[in-house]
Amino acid sequence: MSARILDGAATAKALRAELAREVIAYEAKHGAVPGLAVVLVGEDPASQVYVRNKSRAAEEVGMKSWTHRLPADTTQALLLDTVERLNRDPSVHGILVQLPLPKAIDPQAVIAAIDPAKDVDGFHPVNAGKLALGLMPCLVPCTPQGCMILLRQGVGGGSLAGRKAIVLGRSNIVGKPIAQLLLQADCTVTIAHSRTRDLAEECRAADIVVAAIGKPSFVKGDWIKPGAVVIDVGINRIDDAAHSGKTKLVGDVDFAGACEKASAITPVPGGVGPMTIACLLKNTLQAAQLRG
Ligand code: GUN
Repeated sequence: MSARILDGAATAKALRAELAREVIAYEAKHGAVPGLAVVLVGEDPASQVYVRNKSRAAEEVGMKSWTHRLPADTTQALLLDTVERLNRDPSVHGILVQLPLPKAIDPQAVIAAIDPAKDVDGFHPVNAGKLALGLMPCLVPCTPQGCMILLRQGVGGGSLAGRKAIVLGRSNIVGKPIAQLLLQADCTVTIAHSRTRDLAEECRAADIVVAAIGKPSFVKGDWIKPGAVVIDVGINRIDDAAHSGKTKLVGDVDFAGACEKASAITPVPGGVGPMTIACLLKNTLQAAQLRG
């Protein structure tokens, strides 16, 4: 069997086109466009790329975007002041503080300071709590939302109810929220992690595998149940054996091996990654619409 490839780049493009139309409708109704403020502390190269891409994507769908760049030695108090200012600014509908933050700053304190109604990452305890309780609408973390859209394509729009899903990884950003979304879709959910016994055997029982552990090509083809849908959240940069001195991106799943067993799979790059930013824009529009 050779798995169907779930094209995240094309799906994200279609979603962004739909959002651009909704932004026009929002502006016609409210006389202003949704606004996204992104805060970057320090000079982490990967974060700089992500932040640039987020702001550019917001502008491409017709939203307003601001990037607040603060030096690496910014104090927690100054960052909290910045968040407070954005909370009070009525032209800002969404606030995103790029993670990771410098070691001297407590990320949980910063996340908790964001107005939950502007928390387009969905990381605030109010939004995480609402998601866990199934109190919708709430702002749902972007990568998990993107995973669910691709997963629904993977099952051809069929019901997810009763399917066995395994989530590899228990981070607050991906693993835990995606487990909640799978549970809301009536899957039977296992959350596996570094201390799980016999991960391979747990995987082999699953109709749906979501890998979010940050280990290159960790999930092997023979861990995949024939016909399973595989969602690979990993973005790992490794040396490219075929081109010395160069690097390449791979996921958490051995793609070639898993393709032999799965019915559908997301590639890396071009799978979940592009969906994350599209869902961030979706959340920004939702935050604006909920404010009314
Ligand atoms: N760093 C890596 N992923 C994310 C994300 O989804 N949101 C934020 N704010 N920071 C990140």
